[in-house]
Amino acid sequence: MTRTPIVHPVEQTETASAARLRRIASAHLLDNQLDHNQHGVTAPSLNRAAMHGRQLAHGGTLRGVRIRTKDSGDTAACVRLVTDIHRTDGYPQPLPADPAAFVTPSYETVAWVAESDGRIIGHVALHHPALDPTLQVAQRVTGLSPNRLALVARLLVDPTRRRLGVGRQLLAAATGHAASLGQRAVLDVIRDAGAPIALYEAAGWIRVDALTLAVDDGTSLQLWVYLAPTDGHR
Ligand SMILES: CC(C)(COP(=O)(O)OP(=O)(O)OC[C@H]1O[C@@H](n2cnc3c(N)ncnc32)[C@H](O)[C@@H]1OP(=O)(O)O)[C@@H](O)C(=O)NCCC(=O)NCCS
Repeated sequence: MTRTPIVHPVEQTETASAARLRRIASAHLLDNQLDHNQHGVTAPSLNRAAMHGRQLAHGGTLRGVRIRTKDSGDTAACVRLVTDIHRTDGYPQPLPADPAAFVTPSYETVAWVAESDGRIIGHVALHHPALDPTLQVAQRVTGLSPNRLALVARLLVDPTRRRLGVGRQLLAAATGHAASLGQRAVLDVIRDAGAPIALYEAAGWIRVDALTLAVDDGTSLQLWVYLAPTDGHR
């Protein structure tokens, strides 16, 4: 799927309310504090998130679910996960011809899986593609340079293990890890995708813009762009 931006006018989105812009501005302030503090002391709220992310990234346990770093031996299980989710949720649409490359693209920087009883039941990754439209939106809204941003992607939870907090924990792992590197997490989501939007908003993510992307097959994707809260997770 080639992601080509068509429009992303922040001023025209219904969500660019004064309150939101104030929250973004205060987030930007925290980011600047972080920028100006190059000697190991980070803004306190980002630091809390970073610590939490590190715990999870290093094998945290949640109700029998272990979040750990993905490795090459997880490929087959992750392909099964994405195939099951496509069948149940219609995501991703269409199912990519090479699901392994979809789950682990070349621009993935780090990824985690959720494991329960030796079975992979969830996945999330941080991506850093060159010239990504979502990162461009985040750059414009936050004023941060590309190396201060991290794209959260491929958040997937086994359809038989939903509403147990797995998605929330995976998201916290990715967001917290980004914060530990001094990066602000950003993501995009299909505008009518109820479950992930509910999760992002419950976790305090801030909707900052609308984005339309042209897809290879001539259709387009209508997306929202979200920024992680500056306290990382809830
Ligand atoms: C989105 C997804 C990852 C959520 O995973 P999950 O493990 O079920 O989510 P959680 O249990 O951590 O949910 C945390 C909170 O998010 C919200 N939420 C999650 N799913 C929801 C749903 N279907 N309806 C309403 N709220 C929902 C709730 O506030 C929930 O808290 P609660 O259960 O205490 O009410 C999962 O539905 C999924 O894999 N969907 C298909 C793939 C996809 O769309 N990925 C995102 C691409 S951008």
